[in-house]
Amino acid sequence: LTANDPGLCALTDLVEEKLGQLIGVEHPLQTDRAAAYSLLAGGKRIRPLLLLKTAAMSQVPIDDSLPFALALELIHTYSLIHDDLPAMDDDDLRRGRPSCHRAFDEATAILAGDLLLNLAYETVLQALLTDASLNRIEAAGLIAHAAGRSGMIAGQAMDLICEVDRSDNEEALDYLIRLQTKKTGALIEAAVIAGATLGGAPEDWLELLSFFSRALGRVFQLQDDLLDVTGSEASLGKTAGKDARDGKLTFVTLLGIDETKRHLNEQIQVIRSSLAELEAAGAKTEHLLPLIDAILKREA
Ligand code: IPE
Ligand code: IPE
Ligand code: MG
Ligand code: MG
Ligand code: MG
Repeated sequence: LTANDPGLCALTDLVEEKLGQLIGVEHPLQTDRAAAYSLLAGGKRIRPLLLLKTAAMSQVPIDDSLPFALALELIHTYSLIHDDLPAMDDDDLRRGRPSCHRAFDEATAILAGDLLLNLAYETVLQALLTDASLNRIEAAGLIAHAAGRSGMIAGQAMDLICEVDRSDNEEALDYLIRLQTKKTGALIEAAVIAGATLGGAPEDWLELLSFFSRALGRVFQLQDDLLDVTGSEASLGKTAGKDARDGKLTFVTLLGIDETKRHLNEQIQVIRSSLAELEAAGAKTEHLLPLIDAILKREA
């Protein structure tokens, strides 16, 4: 993520360093090497940053929120490794390098994804061993739920087996929004709500943050679908122009570029107004602003 804010750059470096420590340098098996290869390939780290920043709104010490943030990134990276497999999107490029199954092989990539997913829960459970307050248990549950059968995995399933009549525009858009809310939205919402939950945020903040994070998740996928057609392989670090070629149902393939941009601007307004409402409710949104600006300006 390109950020001008020194605090945000330092926090990204910290996430990077901690992910490195977590995956370690001892990689006796090819599966370990494959997991480290994909994890340390320089993603934007948006989900861990969101969790750390929303926890910081309630003064949670960084060491207390880090394990949950790292777990989210581990889950996200596993989802990308599997997303690129030939049985799913069959993508050769990820984070500017050959995707995991291209650099290694398919079986290794499947296991590397499994390894990262498992490591996520090991990390969270280890953190609960030192402090198992109810807020921390609830945050762990939110992350697990978002990654699962009615969250990210459900979204991936809806994306792969698109069970909707595409000639009915209204029905297709409704399906696409439900798909997106799970596929991309669930982990982004979990990042924000788990962070706030760790800090014991009051009910009215949680409600506003939930509204805010859903708009942010939508924005993120609208951008992803736009970047697929407007971005280049070099800038994205992943294959461009793939969605139309693969016959994917995306905001751009369904609505076209202009209408997708209109939706994007509408959701950006929702983000701005919910941040203003949060501030009015006493939340310190300055913790979030540089990150949100960087996300809204992203070109990769
Ligand atoms: C890409 O996620 C996949 C989607 C959920 C659209 P990111 O754009 O966050 O990917 P990285 O982590 O920066 O590589
Ligand atoms: C992938 O969505 C989302 C998850 C991995 C959960 P996409 O298939 O659109 O992501 P990219 O475009 O390959 O990064
Ligand atoms: Mg996909
Ligand atoms: Mg994909
Ligand atoms: Mg995409």
